[in-house]
Amino acid sequence: MYCIKKITNDLTWVGANDRRLAMFEGVYSVPYGVSYNSYLLCDEKNVLFDTVDKAVQHRFMENLAKALGNKKLDYLVVQHMEPDHSAAMREILFLYPDAKIVCNDKTLTMIKQFYDFDMDSRVHLVKENDTLNTGKHLLHFVMAPMVHWPEVMVTYDSTDKILFSADAFGCFGALNGALFADEVDFNKDYMHEARRYYTNIVGKYGTQAEALLNKAASLKIEIICPLHGFVWRRNIKDILSKYLLWSSYEPEEHGVMIAYASVYGNTENAAEILASQLRNKGVKTQMFDVSVTPASEIVSASFRWSHLVFASTTYNAGIFVTMEALIFDLAAHNIQNRTIAIIENGSWAATSGSLIRTHLEKCKNINFLENMISIKSGIKATQLSEIDLMAEALIATLPKSATVIKKESTPAASNIVQQETMFKLSYGLFVLTARDGDKDNGCIINTVTQITSSPLRISIAVNKANFTCDMISKTGKFNVSVLTESATFDIFERFGFHSGKNTDKFKGCDCNERAANNIRYVPKHTNAMISAEVAESIDYGTHILFIANVTEAFVISNEPSVTYQYYFDHIKPKPQTPKQGKKGFVCKICGYVHEGDELPSDFICPLCKHGVADFDPL
Ligand code: FEO
Repeated sequence: MYCIKKITNDLTWVGANDRRLAMFEGVYSVPYGVSYNSYLLCDEKNVLFDTVDKAVQHRFMENLAKALGNKKLDYLVVQHMEPDHSAAMREILFLYPDAKIVCNDKTLTMIKQFYDFDMDSRVHLVKENDTLNTGKHLLHFVMAPMVHWPEVMVTYDSTDKILFSADAFGCFGALNGALFADEVDFNKDYMHEARRYYTNIVGKYGTQAEALLNKAASLKIEIICPLHGFVWRRNIKDILSKYLLWSSYEPEEHGVMIAYASVYGNTENAAEILASQLRNKGVKTQMFDVSVTPASEIVSASFRWSHLVFASTTYNAGIFVTMEALIFDLAAHNIQNRTIAIIENGSWAATSGSLIRTHLEKCKNINFLENMISIKSGIKATQLSEIDLMAEALIATLPKSATVIKKESTPAASNIVQQETMFKLSYGLFVLTARDGDKDNGCIINTVTQITSSPLRISIAVNKANFTCDMISKTGKFNVSVLTESATFDIFERFGFHSGKNTDKFKGCDCNERAANNIRYVPKHTNAMISAEVAESIDYGTHILFIANVTEAFVISNEPSVTYQYYFDHIKPKPQTPKQGKKGFVCKICGYVHEGDELPSDFICPLCKHGVADFDPL
C-alpha cells in the first residue's frame, strides 16, 4: 500500500524508508535506518526527481503510481547516479515509456555504464543553467560535481523556490512518519546523523560543497528536498550554517575529542586522566574507544571539535590496527584546521606516535602539539606532570571562552529562601551588544559589576536562552551601554522582548555607532560605553557568568544611570485598571492587561510577546 506525503500543492514525496540495512554503502552503520527520497512534481508536464534503492523499490513504485493517478510521467530527472537513487530507473522507463530522462552528459555516461538498454532516444541532456518549463514551474539545472559523485547536479524550481539538493543537506535516519525537519527536534535528535552523513559521504569534497553553497547563496530558497533525510521548509539557516562550517573544515565547537586504541587498558588510562584534567579546567571533552565505536562516528566528531587527541598503543611495530584505520580514514576525508596532540604506548619500541603524526602531517593546517607523551606499558606517577602539561598546552590553544566551569549549589533544605529578597538588591540596566560575522545583536541585562580596577575587569551574567549569550561564548567580545533615567520603554521592547535569532534588533534604530571592537553600542539614553574581552566563563545552569577585561570605556553623558527600581516606577507601563466588575490577567513583564475570566493557554502578550507563564490574575 502506498505511503506518500504532500510537500506543496504540486509536489509529493514518493520515497521510502529502510530500517533493515545494516551498513549503508557497505561501510556506514545506520542504526536508525535511512530514507531514500524521490519527489514527484505534478504540472502540465509531470516530473519525477530521482528514484530509490532496490531494497525499497516496490513501495516506491506503489507511491509513484498513487501520486501520479491517471496522469502521465513526462520526465525523470536523474540528479545522481549512485544506485541508492537510480536502482528503479529501469522499471520506471519500462512502465512509463513516454518518460524522458533529464540528465547531464556525465550522467548519461554512467547510465550506460550501469545499464545495457538503449536510452539515447529518451535522453534530454542539460548543462549548467539550462531550464525546463513544465507549465507553471520553471526548473533550473545547477551542476554540483563531487557532491558526492562527478555527475551530480541539483535542480532549482524558481516558481516555488524549492532546491532539489541531491546528496547535499541529507541525513541518515528513517523519517518515522515525519517528512519535515521542523516536525522533529532536529538539533537534538538528528543533527548528529546529518553531521555523520555529510562528513563521511561528502566530507572529502569540502571545496566542491562550498562551490555549491556559493551557487545556492544567490537563490531564494524556501524548501530544500534532499535525497536522504528530512525536507527543510523552516529554519533553513540552521542546516546552511552547519554546511558552511563543515565544508570549510572549521570546527563547530571548541573542545577536545580524545580517540584511543588500548589493548589492556593502559593507553585508555592515560586518555582518561587527560580527559579528567581537561574537564577539571572547564574544557568540553568527548572520548571514543576506536576499537568499539564505528569510525564514521569518530570522523564525524573530528569535524565537530577543534582539538583532537589520538592515543594509541604500538602494534606489530606500527599503529594499533583500529587506530590506523581511523587515521587513514581521517586523512582520506581531508580533515584540516585542527590542533592535534598524540599519546603513544609501547612496551619495548613505541612507534605509533610518530607514525600517526607522519600520516596526519599530510593534512592541511594541522597544529601538532610538540609535547607528545610516550608511555612504556603503563602510565607512572612521574608522568602525570606530562599529562598536565599536555592539558595546559591544549588549553593554551583554546579561546578563553572555551574553558567553562560548571558550578552549582543549592540552599540547605531547612533554610528559608524568599525570592523577594532579591528585589531588595539594587541593579542598573544595560544594553549588552555583540557581533558575530555580519550579525549584530543585543539584549537587556541588569548584571554588570566591576570586579577589579587593576586590571580593569567586569563580570556580566547572561541568560543562556539569549542569542547574545551564544555570540559572546563564540566571539569572546561584547559592549555594555549603561542606560540612563531618560531611557524610554521602546528601548526595552527593542532589546528585551524579542529573540535576535529571528529578528534584526537594530532594524530601524538610529544607533549606528560602533566601538573600536566593531561591535555596536547605544549612544542615546546612555551615559557610558564599556567594551570587554572574555577572560573566563562559568556555566551556572541558566546563565553564563563572563569575567572580562575592559578594552575600551568612555563616558557619553552625565545623566543618572537608571536602576531597576526606577524602571519599574517610571518607565515600565502601568497595569491598566480593569473596568469595574471585570476580571483579567496582567503581564508581569510589561503590565499589559488581558480582560476576561480565562486566559487561553496559547495566549501571547500583544505588547511584549511573552506567554501565559508570565501573566498573573488581577
Ligand atoms: Fe545516497 Fe551519493 O548517494
